[in-house]
Amino acid sequence: MNSPLLIHPKRIAIDGPAASGKGTLARRLALHFSLPHLDTGLLYRAVGAQCLERGALEDEAASVEIARALDISHLNPEALRSAGIGEAASVVAARPGVRTALLELQRHFAAQPGGAVLDGRDIGTVICPDAPAKLFVTATPEVRAQRRFSELEGRGEITSLETVLADIRKRDARDSGRSDAPLAMAEDAALLDTSNLGIEAAFAAALSLVEQALRA
Ligand code: CDP
Repeated sequence: MNSPLLIHPKRIAIDGPAASGKGTLARRLALHFSLPHLDTGLLYRAVGAQCLERGALEDEAASVEIARALDISHLNPEALRSAGIGEAASVVAARPGVRTALLELQRHFAAQPGGAVLDGRDIGTVICPDAPAKLFVTATPEVRAQRRFSELEGRGEITSLETVLADIRKRDARDSGRSDAPLAMAEDAALLDTSNLGIEAAFAAALSLVEQALRA
């Protein structure tokens, strides 16, 4: 029997490839619903960054150890957004031991009583397969490269659009091709293509899809 006092947690899972706009949408949705938000890419970025600092990116055992010891209360998003760290994140994220080490803390975050918003690559498929609202946010590689290029330029990183596009294609291939938790759209996710949408239009579309899913 349904109790009128039973409040369903608003768990919102957002996945998609690099620079698809999922991070911005996740932040905006979290603000809208007053929910906690976890950018799970930052976890892999933090592990990648520590591996780079130690000169140990090729050392799988070291990356697993770093992932196990990760303290999410001390993540510095600004310092982790560089292109080099994004690349290192994608390398360590392909290692099953690293993914296993980060699994429980993500599930724990998602299980907060009122709900939570998580964004990443495997949220709807592996971390929260039972989330009531799932979005898969995408855009063409060219549009994503332009967005990432502007973001990196804004941070003062010197690069070219061609380099960024090549990096995005390489990262897409690595993220989609790995055997453990590859980037994939969950069967019950709603697809949102932001190629031709500005931030406001993309947010309006995302909100409408999420509200629809939460009502269902
Ligand atoms: O912001 P961007 O989309 O470039 O990347 P990110 O979300 O910060 O993630 C960086 C890298 O971490 C990705 O290329 C993935 O390889 C990995 N990642 C993952 O494997 N699983 C997640 N849930 C989140 C990120």
